[in-house]
Amino acid sequence: MKKRMLSGIKPSGQLHIGNYIGALNNFVKYQEDYEMIVFIANLHCITIYQDPKELQKNLTDAIALYLAVGLDPNKSTIFLQSDVMEHAQLGFILQCNSYLGELNRMTQYKDKVAKGEQNLTVGLYTYPDLMAADILIYGANYVPVGVDQKQHVELARDIAIRMNNKYEKELFVIPAPLIEKVGSKIYSLQDPTSKMSKSDKGEKGLIYLLDDPKKARKKIMGAVTDSINKVQYDPQNQPGISNLLVIAASLSDRSIDEVLEDVQEMQYGQFKGYVADIVVKKLETIQQRYHEIIESGIITKVLTEGAQKASKMANQRLKRVQHAIGLEIEKTND
Ligand code: AMP
Ligand code: TRP
Repeated sequence: MKKRMLSGIKPSGQLHIGNYIGALNNFVKYQEDYEMIVFIANLHCITIYQDPKELQKNLTDAIALYLAVGLDPNKSTIFLQSDVMEHAQLGFILQCNSYLGELNRMTQYKDKVAKGEQNLTVGLYTYPDLMAADILIYGANYVPVGVDQKQHVELARDIAIRMNNKYEKELFVIPAPLIEKVGSKIYSLQDPTSKMSKSDKGEKGLIYLLDDPKKARKKIMGAVTDSINKVQYDPQNQPGISNLLVIAASLSDRSIDEVLEDVQEMQYGQFKGYVADIVVKKLETIQQRYHEIIESGIITKVLTEGAQKASKMANQRLKRVQHAIGLEIEKTND
């Protein structure tokens, strides 16, 4: 039997090439060999305030982009997190089986506290428990994520082991994070030591999948590099150039060494042009599919069918968990 793999994306902004290289592109590959479950983590989005109209647009775009990059609803189960109510319910149960000390250590929350951000919501704090529920409710064996999410998958693993010991031996499948060697962290074009992220202040550091290709080319041409003037893979001393190499390799399905064969003699300007060509070609292909999908009206059908399939699986596990922890009263027919 195929192993089960699950992942979610939280489109609280537009998806960018970091999401594509670190997540989406891998899902497409994995769906051939695994039973793939992918969803849009819309509940996770609202842990920080979202403008309702903008959120709706981002969710639609995210689904359309999932399909545009090649996720196939006949091979993968694709749905919206909030359409499967069981996630939130198991999430609460898991909150009751995790500790303040654990959640205090979760970097996403910890970083925001350290930065002195005000009015953080309780949802942001318990976010990792909901994520653990997303994973455990489907009995996923593997969870492909970028390095930043590894800690959350490990929490899911810890809770699963804890509850298996406490309640029932094989209540939960123990999940493992799956992190790709290349591309699991794409860096900002403007600050190549920090992650390319939709929370980036400026727009120049990241390339959205729906960016105008001309604008994307400009962003690559303006990427921060160094004064060493040699194109080589050296993330320590040349983070900007190394990041561009990873982007070029990932988007053209080649290894960094293969790309280096083409580019190692180039000046930086020429090298950036080479990377920009690859990025633009990729964006054009994705955007053409994206427009076809939006116009086809297929999204509602995919989401409805996906949620039906997912709910069935989720409900079975939730019932079993509720039974194991003593929440359910045996019902008789009379
Ligand atoms: P997020 O955009 O934070 O919801 O992330 C969605 C998925 O994309 C997660 O698996 C992340 O780890 C991955 N991801 C986000 N940003 C990057 C990045 N800069 N490089 C690689 N993967 C990323
Ligand atoms: N927290 C993840 C992120 O920020 C999104 C996510 C939610 C997720 N639930 C998940 C990822 C379950 C993997 C598995 O990207």
